[in-house]
Amino acid sequence: MKEAVRIENLHYTYPEGTQALKGISLRIYEGESVGIIGPNGAGKSTLLLHLNGILPAAGQGEGRVVALGEEIRRNDKRIRSDIGFVFEDPDEQLFMPRVFDDVAFGPLNMGLSGEEVKARVKDALRAVNLAGFEERSPHHLSAGEKRAAAIATVLSMRPQILVIDEPASDLDPRSRRNIIHLLNTFRMTKMIATHDLDMVLEVATRCILLDEGKVIKDGPGEEVLKNRELLEAHGLEMPLSLLLRSQNF
Ligand SMILES: Nc1ncnc2c1ncn2[C@@H]1O[C@H](COP(=O)(O)OP(=O)(O)OP(=O)(O)O)[C@@H](O)[C@H]1O
Ligand SMILES: [Mg+2]
Repeated sequence: MKEAVRIENLHYTYPEGTQALKGISLRIYEGESVGIIGPNGAGKSTLLLHLNGILPAAGQGEGRVVALGEEIRRNDKRIRSDIGFVFEDPDEQLFMPRVFDDVAFGPLNMGLSGEEVKARVKDALRAVNLAGFEERSPHHLSAGEKRAAAIATVLSMRPQILVIDEPASDLDPRSRRNIIHLLNTFRMTKMIATHDLDMVLEVATRCILLDEGKVIKDGPGEEVLKNRELLEAHGLEMPLSLLLRSQNF
């Protein structure tokens, strides 16, 4: 299997002294869908932020992050189109007057022709069930629509790796279900950080449990998620669907 991401002994300390990552090493292979779980403050978001090259300007790091064969450096623009990074807060991703402009932003920066950009915007919006939303204002979309639009802004670059932080927070059950369905239709390598362990069960083939900046467990999704003792020791609960199954509901 071809390696998509390699993280070697990654440490990161925020400027005011919080040691957020304390020696993370992992390899992710092409086509894997990896759920990153762990309690609040475990380091999930900090880890994912290392994949988009927008590391905090200050802070101290150590270690290496290699994606698609090349090391990622701070403010690495090259990597942006290959790694689609979806922020937890869609407002960090949507800043143009029209949905079209936000979704076209990446492809335009890649230097694609006007025709190609339009085609990509249309495809990306269709993929997230927002066909026809081109002229809408991103600021007037519902939470679920914003989330979908934020995903479209990276899909339009046709990334090889999709990195998403908390894709289902603030979503109603139907929108959450749509996002799960969407994630399952994507064939690229995925890294998904979330507290929604039932979602991880549905979308991830592999699950990595982080706590206090370290990898506590890394294994097949269901194996990690049915380990009730382990989850509870790290402030998590077994997904409801597995809990019901274990009690023969
Ligand atoms: N911008 C920042 N400045 C300083 N410290 C930070 C910053 N962002 C996160 N931290 C700290 O780094 C640690 C890891 O935080 P991180 O946001 O990566 O955790 P997380 O696993 O994503 O948590 P959550 O589940 O709450 O999203 C925490 O102790 C947090 O307080
Ligand atoms: Mg987080």
